[in-house]
Amino acid sequence: MANYVQGDSSSALSASNQYFVEQYTKVRSFTEQLCAPLVTEDYVIQSMPDVSPTKWHLAHVSWFFETFLLSPALPDYTSLHPQYAYLFNSYYNTLGERHCRPKRGLISRPTVQETYQYRRYVDEHVLDLLEKIDEQRLAELAPIITLGLHHEQQHQELMVTDIKHVLSCNPLNPIYIARVPTRATRVPPLEWVAFPGGIHWIGHEGENFAFDNEGPRHRQFLQSFQLASRLVTNGEYLEFMEDGSYENPLLWLSDGWNTVRAEEWKAPLYWEHRDGRWWIMTLSGLREVDRAEPVCHVSYYEADAYARWADARLPTEAEWEVAANDGPVEGNFVENGLYHPAPLNASTSGGKLAQMFGDVWEWTQSSYSPYPGFKAAAGAIGEYNGKFMCNQFVLRGGSCATSLSHIRSTYRNFFPPNAQWQFMGIRLAREV
Ligand SMILES: [Fe+2]
Repeated sequence: MANYVQGDSSSALSASNQYFVEQYTKVRSFTEQLCAPLVTEDYVIQSMPDVSPTKWHLAHVSWFFETFLLSPALPDYTSLHPQYAYLFNSYYNTLGERHCRPKRGLISRPTVQETYQYRRYVDEHVLDLLEKIDEQRLAELAPIITLGLHHEQQHQELMVTDIKHVLSCNPLNPIYIARVPTRATRVPPLEWVAFPGGIHWIGHEGENFAFDNEGPRHRQFLQSFQLASRLVTNGEYLEFMEDGSYENPLLWLSDGWNTVRAEEWKAPLYWEHRDGRWWIMTLSGLREVDRAEPVCHVSYYEADAYARWADARLPTEAEWEVAANDGPVEGNFVENGLYHPAPLNASTSGGKLAQMFGDVWEWTQSSYSPYPGFKAAAGAIGEYNGKFMCNQFVLRGGSCATSLSHIRSTYRNFFPPNAQWQFMGIRLAREV
């Protein structure tokens, strides 16, 4: 099914044209590489309202380039189909009516093959544009091309998490890709790493790409704080479960307790109790829970309750960012091909933080709100981030489904407090 786009590297392109042709080709190809293990039937299922079918993701990211790059840049551009904009617009009210999100799984046409043809059509036009425009026009279009590529990387992660949910609904426990789990001989003990209080600079600045919600850079006062040296493990979370915590209202926020009761939560998403043992559904099939792995697929409510049980708290996003600025952006990302968080094997002695990036997104206690001076861009593109700054919490650091080239210490992901289906985990914080 996958037929990767090919940039024309034989012509004498300028360095900037060549750069964008290569970046575009690389990101678009990786999307299709992630689809390689799927069969046609996998592409169309929507297992819950939050999940989109793989086919929809493939078309939506193409629609994004069509809408925000091709249509404004090419006056004669016409879409492959007049109603694709209705089907594949996600949430941009400024761009008109659109198909209902929870019903994306009811759309059998365009077929998967026609969806790939749509991608090819958009690829041909984007690559033609990138190869032909002069440097000045390219410089004008560069921000939207770059946004389109980072947007597609966001959807690559959603494709992985959504297909995991789709496969988890199948009693045959289908395997997305067979991988031997990483094992740890010894999980290092949790240590506390202290950071001084004071006024700290938070947020993105500089020439490199960042989403609008990562700025403006501004000062925040922080009390002295401590961050756990590593992520909370499955073993530690099992102790929390075995202590009756899912039946103890004193540990939970009111909304969290209501959700635990209504959803009958007893464990993280994808955990299953069989014959007295806990099993976990992974993209490489069903496995017995490994106590050394970071706990994953927990909601904000569960992360918050665990922290209370552990006599700690979740970090604020500013604390997390200040701590992350000290270290390199390295970890278990999607490029590792594990599609699962890995246990920590190395020693973290010496007061160093581990697992800050990759493995699991780390819940913070910070509401997803605008930074001081934030202003959404004019027009439809202003709907990208700003309008979601209500009723969601910030997560930091990326996961095993995030691309390394997509993450930064200032990156703000956000989800509602009951969401579990992303690769979400826990790092503790506490006062000094
Ligand atoms: Fe999108």
